[in-house]
Amino acid sequence: MSTTSESWGSRLGLILAMAGNAVGLGNFLRFPVQAIQNGGGAFIIPYLVCFLLMGIPLLWVEWAIGRMGGRHGYHATPFALQLLDPKRPGWKYAGVLGIFNCLAIATYYCYIESWTMSYIWHSVAGSFRGMDQEEVSLFFDRYLDVQQRGLFSPAVLAFIFCTLLNAWLLSRGLVKGIETVAKIGMPLLIIFGILLAYKGVTLKAGQDGAAFDGVAGLNFLWQPQFDSLLNPKVWLAAAGQIFFTISLGWGMVHCYASYISDRDDVALNAMAAGWTNEFVEVVLGSAILVPIAVGYFGIERAVELVSTGGLGLAFRTMPFLFGQWGAFVGLVAGVMFFGLLFFAAVTSSLAMGSPWIGFMQDEFRWSRPVGAWSFGLIVVVLGLPTVWYFQQGVFDEYDYWAGTVSLFLLALLEAILFCWIFGLTRGWAEINLGADIRLWPLYRFVLQYITPTLLLLVFFASLVQPLGSDWGGAFGSLLHGQGWPLDNDSMLGRLTHQGLQRQMAEAPIGTDLAPLDERRTLLNFSRGLLLAFFGFLCVLVKIASHRKKTLNHGRA
Ligand code: PHE
Repeated sequence: MSTTSESWGSRLGLILAMAGNAVGLGNFLRFPVQAIQNGGGAFIIPYLVCFLLMGIPLLWVEWAIGRMGGRHGYHATPFALQLLDPKRPGWKYAGVLGIFNCLAIATYYCYIESWTMSYIWHSVAGSFRGMDQEEVSLFFDRYLDVQQRGLFSPAVLAFIFCTLLNAWLLSRGLVKGIETVAKIGMPLLIIFGILLAYKGVTLKAGQDGAAFDGVAGLNFLWQPQFDSLLNPKVWLAAAGQIFFTISLGWGMVHCYASYISDRDDVALNAMAAGWTNEFVEVVLGSAILVPIAVGYFGIERAVELVSTGGLGLAFRTMPFLFGQWGAFVGLVAGVMFFGLLFFAAVTSSLAMGSPWIGFMQDEFRWSRPVGAWSFGLIVVVLGLPTVWYFQQGVFDEYDYWAGTVSLFLLALLEAILFCWIFGLTRGWAEINLGADIRLWPLYRFVLQYITPTLLLLVFFASLVQPLGSDWGGAFGSLLHGQGWPLDNDSMLGRLTHQGLQRQMAEAPIGTDLAPLDERRTLLNFSRGLLLAFFGFLCVLVKIASHRKKTLNHGRA
């Protein structure tokens, strides 16, 4: 059926490609932002617990499902999930999430990737020379303001160029494209990362205009605060970060693992890729942005900048901070930092195209180049609304539904399917097949009970998270018949636009509500777009499944 008989060039290539896709913007941009937003040391314990109890076990599950799929010629999740429970045809639609998530997230991921490209250029061209902090931040606002500057603005052109570059690299194939980029990009990224981390950690108060030691930032991150263990909001953020960073629930791990053979080790390879990612995130990811930002701004201002700047934090601050190190060192640091982000991003975005390409090769006999270029087209078309309406929150809306909720959903469904329906007797054997290491049997218990329970708890908690995360108060209010006060950021709260509605209700009389109204329409439109795209993928799966049936009848 499939038009592909590709496989990985070597074990090192496979691990580098796996680690290369996991190491991404999540490690260097999202992790510091999440950690700062959730109180530094308060974040770290839930984060590590989620890695050990959800991350590692689910990685095994995804690798095992992927390899099983590959054995039957499936390189994407729809029919791979179906294999685990052939009697219930609904699973293949759950598997659609494994193509959808990657594509939907790739749309805005490639956009951020294009910022890093532009910022490498601006660092070389010296665009930030002589700017103060305010001006550097304004520079970023102006860059993003494509509505003012039109369709041919640098941000739009860079986005399209960057996406086409991805499509071209993907069209070159597994070994020549993905493995080559990983083999060049990963070592460079690690070298840049170590040099910048060294600069960050050795930053001294009073030198180069820094107000505090860089180590102050590390202390803020690494001083554990045990009371955080009782705060569900922090758990949600930690679990979400683990999913994002080790690429769980995306459908991509399944795809890469489908190109390995039964003699290959799932247990050890999955751990190697997972731990490499954690090393890069926990060691390098926490030693660059946080120490440098805290060293110059102090903790309070850094926290404030994160709450207003979010993912843009690095773009709003780093060029200015590097400027303090003198023209030459500043230039080199700028190129290294944005270069590091770019390499991290490109190996990741290439991975996001792979399930779609694999699926179209398997089911519709498309060639790799056609799959690759169509990936580029989808990303540009679905991505333009996030670029154009960035300021109105469409980018965040995509990130929330695809980049958080949908990842959880796939992980939850596959954990239930693999551990409870397919059953861990067969599942455990599948994970251990061809393994070079013996897995700790305790992990079998974890997979059976702890991982799914944790997933369910976190999912439920985020669904109905109460106002200000005050669970006690919310239950009290419910008991007194005053209903459940939903937080604006809970899943149901987001779904029903609580935040906007509260803003509208509280606006002083005479306020022009039209912009808020317009925003709501735009957010609904972007949800509609994502849903329609999901529907489109379901139709493709339906057609593919129908074809399989007629083919089987023909044979019979
Ligand atoms: N893990 C990557 C990051 O941290 C994101 C990613 C997910 C990349 C899935 C590829 C596939 O940014």
